[in-house]
Amino acid sequence: MSISELDRIPDFASERNGNGSAGQGSGQTMDALRERRDRLRARILRGRPEAAERQHKLGKRTARERLELLLDEGTFVEVDMYRRHRAHGLGMEAERPYTDGVVTGSGTIHGRRVFVYAQDFTVFGGSLGEAHALKIHKVMDLALATGSPFIGLNDSGGARIQEGVMSLNGYGEIFRRNVQASGVIPQISVVLGPCAGGAAYSTALADFTFMVRDTAQLYLTGPDVVEAVTGQRVSHAALGGADVHGGLSGVATFVHDDEETCLEEVRYLVSMLAGNNMELPPRLPSRGAAGDTRPRLAEIVPVDPGKPYDMRLVVAELVDDGDFLEVHELWAPNVICALARIDGEVVGIVGNQPMVLAGVLDVPASQKAARFVRFCDAFSIPLVTLVDVPGFLPGTDQEHSGIIRHGAKLLYAYCDATVPRVQVILRKAYGGAYIVMDSRSIGADLSLAWPTNEIAVMGAHGAVNVIHRRELAAAEDAAALRAELVRAYTEQLVHPQYAAERGLVDDVIDPADTRAAVARGLAMLRDKRKPQPHRKHGNVPL
Ligand code: HXC
Repeated sequence: MSISELDRIPDFASERNGNGSAGQGSGQTMDALRERRDRLRARILRGRPEAAERQHKLGKRTARERLELLLDEGTFVEVDMYRRHRAHGLGMEAERPYTDGVVTGSGTIHGRRVFVYAQDFTVFGGSLGEAHALKIHKVMDLALATGSPFIGLNDSGGARIQEGVMSLNGYGEIFRRNVQASGVIPQISVVLGPCAGGAAYSTALADFTFMVRDTAQLYLTGPDVVEAVTGQRVSHAALGGADVHGGLSGVATFVHDDEETCLEEVRYLVSMLAGNNMELPPRLPSRGAAGDTRPRLAEIVPVDPGKPYDMRLVVAELVDDGDFLEVHELWAPNVICALARIDGEVVGIVGNQPMVLAGVLDVPASQKAARFVRFCDAFSIPLVTLVDVPGFLPGTDQEHSGIIRHGAKLLYAYCDATVPRVQVILRKAYGGAYIVMDSRSIGADLSLAWPTNEIAVMGAHGAVNVIHRRELAAAEDAAALRAELVRAYTEQLVHPQYAAERGLVDDVIDPADTRAAVARGLAMLRDKRKPQPHRKHGNVPL
């Protein structure tokens, strides 16, 4: 059923004519005009109940219901409610619904201002035409002008087919604004329905992308086109569902089971972010962490560097209330990236995860951590890097996939970061991975190490095999000789004080004191300033 067949909202002019009056100048009272305005407004706000019901049946909420969940109660200020398209042809004249399929405005989250749009799938499938796009441009401009986070709730069939190139132009203008705003205000994209075609690029340009299982789909070309071009039949979910983008492509930063949880988590994320790059993230009162001991840390992490453990348990011990928001939890789980607070101060935590692939760095892990470090640096979030890394993942697969290029992204991101940077070496830190995981050599401000630290070009066995190859080959008892050489190498090169004696580790700390030492370090570095040389921009190995 088309919009006009359902409950098409009469426009202001037809209402006025229906009342037999010619307008303000002909004796209309302010009360009468206000009453008409209110009636129209009420109709727009009510929307079409049948269409809303259809959304609900699909497990989705309407645009306005979503905004109610996202924003603090009663804070939404709508702009451009009365906007309508001016397209002609293909039946467009017959249907000119107010809002044009997107609700835009501002509100607060935990008392702090944000700008938002929420696409309304019940109007032209939430598709983006000229007027729809102009509304989004307006709130993007306001977000940038006021230094406020920008949040887009997407539920759309993509470019409005009937509006042709004006739809494409509308998208291009969004992408341009996304890029202008990058690193100036946080941008969050929430996918709550289809998000097809080029529209998907706005989510890729955002800092964080949320998706909801079962209802959200994100792809450049849908299943029909895929089948037509490749012959491959694939479902919407298998092509671009939340788990595909959360776990495989890395496009989705967060995946949730339902809209309520998803929007609540957006609120949690916003609670930890500065409004813009000139502000600091919201700080909570100190918890006295500088005197806090955590004996459990030594129980969580086995002394044997080959034994796995869950780095998330370490993170939970270090942060306030054990609360942290894991970024890309499902993608590249061999590295952990999380936002949390230590002693009330928001920090970005990057940690190797020995439980997955022994915590090696590979292509996805490098990309994931690099983008996270860039975000933290852009928005004044200090970095805490937890190191327990055997190295980069060796193999033709990795080399041919460009691990050099992708690993360089992480290296670049750390080298370029000017926020306070604290490195904690728990156990092993070998080779290039040691350097990349925020070593002092690339600019960490403070390096703390546990007594279990082993920092070297490579592990003792590998090292002995390389430098004593000939002796080992000639030895009668190679095993005994190897054991002796390994012991000597370890004693001389990888003992706990080795790096500290050379100033590459600032302190060797008791694991139980890690939270306290990091909190003290962050306090010490709070006023860090690091001017960068003037340049147009660096050339990140994208
Ligand atoms: C105009 C659209 C539309 C679109 C959907 N509708 N997409 N109208 N332009 N792009 C309309 C439908 O005609 C329908 O109108 C209503 O929205 C609901 O759509 P349904 O198909 O009934 O919904 P559903 O079955 O849930 O399917 C949703 C969908 C499907 C998967 C999104 O509508 C779809 O495939 N749409 C086209 C997607 C697409 O190819 N978009 C262009 C991508 S290219 P009525 O009146 O019947 O209710 C692109 C380029 C951007 O975006 C480039 C930027 C650089």
